[in-house]
Amino acid sequence: MKKELLELALDQINYEFESSYLYLSMSAWAQDNGYPGTAKWMEKQAEEEITHGKKMMHFLQEVNEKVILTPIAAGPVDFPGFIELFKLSLEHEKKVTARIVKLYEEATAAKEYALANLYSWFIDEQVEEESTLVDIITRLEKVPTPIGVMMMDDRLGQRA
Ligand SMILES: [Fe+2]
Ligand SMILES: [Fe+2]
Repeated sequence: MKKELLELALDQINYEFESSYLYLSMSAWAQDNGYPGTAKWMEKQAEEEITHGKKMMHFLQEVNEKVILTPIAAGPVDFPGFIELFKLSLEHEKKVTARIVKLYEEATAAKEYALANLYSWFIDEQVEEESTLVDIITRLEKVPTPIGVMMMDDRLGQRA
């Protein structure tokens, strides 16, 4: 694999773990602000980001590349509110999608087709992640009341 592609891949691994850290920050905030269901949901979300990072790590190891992990930036301590938590998450996921599309394009251009396939899996995964968040935001906007928020928190707490 070209050095440049490997560096981009390692950078994305870091970003997946950073995403995990961001969702854990959101989980901590939710717990602290009386939204235990959301805290649980965000924790699951954080776990999913770890599996993403590991999936990328394992791919690189399978093609005999060396994985180097770098420091992760701390997540925010405070968030502006309940619905904003999901709006920020959606913004974040859109950023992730744009990054992965770029990685896919770079891998394809370099004829690294197995790597491109890996990123293609992530592009599909991003469709699901964005759509879940859009759904939550849409529902919250329909019933923008404390009861709507509490119902959503309960619902999010049921995530398997
Ligand atoms: Fe991810
Ligand atoms: Fe994600």
